[in-house]
Amino acid sequence: MKKILVTGGTGYIGSHTVVELQRKGYEVLIVDNLSNSRLDVLDNIETISGIRPAFEQLDLADGKLTAEFFQRNPSLDGVIHFAAFKAVGQSVADPLMYYRNNLYSLVNVLQGMKDNNIQNLVFSSSCTVYGQPEQLPVNEKAPIQKAWSPYGNTKQMSEEIIEFTVKSCDVKAIALRYFNPIGAHESALIGELPLGTPNNLMPFVTQTAIGIRECLSVFGGDYDTPDGTAVRDYIHVVDIAQAHVVAVERMLGDKGKSNFEIFNLGTGNGLSVLEVINSFEKTSGQKLNYKIVDRRSGDVEKVWADTTFANQELGWKALKGLDEMTLSAWKWELRLAEIKK
Ligand code: NAD
Ligand code: WQD
Repeated sequence: MKKILVTGGTGYIGSHTVVELQRKGYEVLIVDNLSNSRLDVLDNIETISGIRPAFEQLDLADGKLTAEFFQRNPSLDGVIHFAAFKAVGQSVADPLMYYRNNLYSLVNVLQGMKDNNIQNLVFSSSCTVYGQPEQLPVNEKAPIQKAWSPYGNTKQMSEEIIEFTVKSCDVKAIALRYFNPIGAHESALIGELPLGTPNNLMPFVTQTAIGIRECLSVFGGDYDTPDGTAVRDYIHVVDIAQAHVVAVERMLGDKGKSNFEIFNLGTGNGLSVLEVINSFEKTSGQKLNYKIVDRRSGDVEKVWADTTFANQELGWKALKGLDEMTLSAWKWELRLAEIKK
């Protein structure tokens, strides 16, 4: 049985990936410091898969603790590194916190892999590295644009750190650039747990519908898009999770074309904010209170993925449509409300 370390494995995308790894017969060890997730995620993973993943609470930004962790666990077949802070606005307010957490963690994980001869890394990158691309759909060869936020900058720098590291030792890596992951597991047992007021669209939509928020502000109605609202490539989190299993299999099977490969993870379809709202209203049966307001500073107008490379090389394709995304997000919000009662 191959053993995979999933850092950030109690988080949103990590927890869904753990379930998909277990489904494919992998043994999973989670490391998370619970800075943005909860321990009971382990119970819910166990309810879904029937297997409780091993777990260690650890701050990967701590070099000494991380080195000791790898010494205790030298026989890992691969690492999926999700652990990072991800709130764009918070990173603008406190850049050093983001550089410290996201970059130290990556460097410590790479060091642990190098020192213990663990060769396979899958890294969580983001479409944010493209900024507003000149050509759409955007493919992996598009130029990286100057980062607008420290968060985005940590993803650019992380890719560069990995690029130079794989040239210097036996570690190989795949970076997956996610577009906009939304939705939740069909069981509604795991999903996104936003702390405080959500920045992202989907949790704001579901929290408004359930009455936690009064009204959704739609940022910008005058973009150069079919309905004037901004366009993104929303992708179901389970599709994203499954791509990680495929990436791990590619590395374990030594099928990579180079020591560092980069793939877009999107559906290839651009959808507007209003299209997301319309789908949500249809699948949930809820009328959403929203109003169109000014643009949000730093937002790009439109971006969606060229998925040809991931489709052809990984043999992976996003399968779930928008209605499945919005319905699963709503069921997850309903479950959170049940738990709170
Ligand atoms: P999340 O916050 O739900 O999960 C991240 C997990 O990492 C959390 O459980 C948190 O407690 C943990 N963590 C953070 N710092 C840590 C540290 N120093 N040591 C140990 N654990 C630590 O976020 P997510 O949405 O699941 O995102 C996972 C990864 O994907 C992140 O790297 C994020 O930047 C990236 N990403 C996310 C999105 C998105 O929209 N959700 C898009 C593109 C990329
Ligand atoms: C989507 C659309 C908003 C909230 C962010 C990060 C990016 C990546 C994905 C990690 C935009 C609009 C939103 C609201 C709205 N994450 N919106 N009202 O901005 O594409 O990207 O998440 O790597 O780095 O920046 O995602 O969900 O915030 O917004 O109208 O209350 O919804 O303007 O057009 P975004 P988002």
